Amino acid sequence: MVVVEELHKEFRGTPALRGVSLDIGTGEIMALLGPNGAGKTTVVRVLTTLLRPDSGRARVDGWDVRRDPAQVRRSTGVAGQYSSVDDMLTGFENLYLVARLRGMKRAPARRTAGDLLDRFRLAEVAGRPAAGYSGGMRRRLDLAAALIGEPSLVVLDEPTTGLDPEARLDTWEEVGRLAARGTTILLTTQYLEEADRLADRITVIDRGRVVAAGTSDRLKAAAGTSRLFVVVARDDEMAAAVRAARLAGGAEPTVDPRGRRVEVAAGDGQEALARVLTALRAEGVQALEIGLGRATLDDVFLGLTTRTRGVTR
Ligand SMILES: Nc1ncnc2c1ncn2[C@@H]1O[C@H](COP(=O)(O)OP(=O)(O)OP(=O)(O)O)[C@@H](O)[C@H]1O
Ligand SMILES: [Mg+2]
Repeated sequence: MVVVEELHKEFRGTPALRGVSLDIGTGEIMALLGPNGAGKTTVVRVLTTLLRPDSGRARVDGWDVRRDPAQVRRSTGVAGQYSSVDDMLTGFENLYLVARLRGMKRAPARRTAGDLLDRFRLAEVAGRPAAGYSGGMRRRLDLAAALIGEPSLVVLDEPTTGLDPEARLDTWEEVGRLAARGTTILLTTQYLEEADRLADRITVIDRGRVVAAGTSDRLKAAAGTSRLFVVVARDDEMAAAVRAARLAGGAEPTVDPRGRRVEVAAGDGQEALARVLTALRAEGVQALEIGLGRATLDDVFLGLTTRTRGVTR
């Protein structure tokens, strides 16, 4: 349903996307997981034809986002990161307007708006201006608007950010129902728990690059049962620390240059710790901190992304 190949995008010389590729099968839920500024919204904007990439390709349902933008828009429903609800209009009018803009005739547009208001438990407030809606109601109205015209792909940019736990659960259920109907879904999130719960597959991006992809089980397995970390005092010791961690863990370490921290999955925990000590001694590096911790779900995410983390945790 979706094929994204090697997207690159710069904003005034600052790279936002540095080669993002992903694919989503029909009826699949894909989570695009990443911290602030990772490039999630930029990917969404390219896919929904709102932004031209500098290079790379994206296709939705076989349609190229650059060559056939109108077809892509027809196949796609989108709920952006920031609400597109018109405060002056009522809930009903908001949905009716979108339905009409999508080319529906008056009667079906009215019916669709009514059905969606029921489905998203907004029927009671349907006649009230959206200005008086709570954040959760707004989010639900946005989600409802994304479904108008029964798009085969629904793109949701951080659909639950800022929602209370109950509204979040509601949204999760609705996403699940949508997928059960065969709709393909791309959702972005900063929450690993959300990706884990909803998605068939997860693509983790950080600083415009895909840093991991696969099912959540695979990502957790890749994170290993233990995490081994080394913190060094000087920048010129980093390369040696990376070599030592790679040797000890038998996998490619993640590097946090600011924290001068190197981390690697280590299936055999203590044994890996012994190996890293030997390797560091051989490199002639005196580490500031060396440690072994158990991998948690968050480690998968934190280990893969390299945002400004402190030296200790
Ligand atoms: N229109 C723009 N002009 C300049 N820079 C931009 C623009 N849009 C995005 N960027 C930059 O591109 C990078 C990626 O931004 P993007 O909005 O895609 O991140 P994100 O993953 O959606 O983050 P968030 O979780 O905060 O929504 C950031 O460094 C951002 O500052
Ligand atoms: Mg965003």
